[in-house]
Amino acid sequence: MMALPHRLTLTQYLIQQRRRFPGASGNFNALMLDVALACKSIARTVAFGELAQASSAAANELGGAINVQGEAQKPLDVISNEVFTTFNDWSGQCAGLASEEMDDPYQIPAGNKRGKYLLVFDPLDGSSNIDVNVSVGSIFSVLRAPDEVVASGRDVTEADFLQPGSRQVAAGYALYGPTTMLVLTVGSGVVGFTLDPNLGEFMLTHPNIQVPTQTHEFAINASNSRFWEAPIKRYVDECLAGKTGPRGKDFNMRWIASMVAEAHRILMRGGVFMYPRDTKDPSKPGRLRLLYEANPIGFIIEQAGGRASTGRQPVLGVTPSSLHQRIGLVFGSKCEVERIERYHAEPAKSEQVSPLFAERSLFRD
Ligand code: AHG
Ligand code: MN
Ligand code: MN
Repeated sequence: MMALPHRLTLTQYLIQQRRRFPGASGNFNALMLDVALACKSIARTVAFGELAQASSAAANELGGAINVQGEAQKPLDVISNEVFTTFNDWSGQCAGLASEEMDDPYQIPAGNKRGKYLLVFDPLDGSSNIDVNVSVGSIFSVLRAPDEVVASGRDVTEADFLQPGSRQVAAGYALYGPTTMLVLTVGSGVVGFTLDPNLGEFMLTHPNIQVPTQTHEFAINASNSRFWEAPIKRYVDECLAGKTGPRGKDFNMRWIASMVAEAHRILMRGGVFMYPRDTKDPSKPGRLRLLYEANPIGFIIEQAGGRASTGRQPVLGVTPSSLHQRIGLVFGSKCEVERIERYHAEPAKSEQVSPLFAERSLFRD
């Protein structure tokens, strides 16, 4: 008989990791299993697509509201948010939760035990892709609650969450694509699990994910090009110029509009993703949210040997000023991100009008 490859389940992997820290209480592992269960539940709901929504009158009443971001909530945004809160407010690991879909921090209900972690999440990233059956995902970040919160057991406040990304204990995402995957970092590299649909278990399939340092693939929403700042224009312009330009090689472009799916592609084969600060809407310094999009993805990318930046500084070094703060984000293969940072640091050169943005250019204003 052919031997099956021995793969660790997520639970076994977490036990193995915990053995490295004999003092660890097991609370963190319990939290990760709750998060994984929430992701499995969302994966099933997403897999039913229109069938799930059509069969649920309640779901049809959900959504349609505008969230704190000023964006229309889809029924699945609301359902996924509820799944995350329900699976993570019971077992006593969290002091409080925060999500893209809730204006204020979520309090652990009275009567439930409170723990020492703060869980921050985007329950469904890329949800504009739901209606067109393109990959979506969930993103999460784990922070420690301030000591005084844990000691007193008081309600959490927005200020408790305003910690730089460098303080994350763990971060991860689930990708609901052709297969469901869970990608995780606890600060010692990045591992990936694939959901075995027969067992309902996440199996360790990618034990050491590394972002290739070189790439010839970039991702940006080019419809915003007239709002880009000079360093981004310069970078994209040089990519587009290809073999005949200063880079001396042709580039390829991808845009899925699910950051979680773009991050996964970059982890698997390299690339650079940009949703930079632009001038489209002066009240929004970027499109993506710092606490539950940029920080967790930034932590994962850096742990995989890539780089994540605002263009001006490492994203993990930014001290947040509000729960739903937006920020410019550039991440991916190290050499490319460093180049983009360099272009931000030498504005004079970037200000020069490049041929592709000149009068008869492809991306002219
Ligand atoms: P969300 O669905 O959680 O609101 O996030 C969507 C984000 C991100 O996933 C994606 O990269 C970006 O918004 C898409 O932006 P465009 O609509 O400009 O393509
Ligand atoms: Mn999102
Ligand atoms: Mn979302």
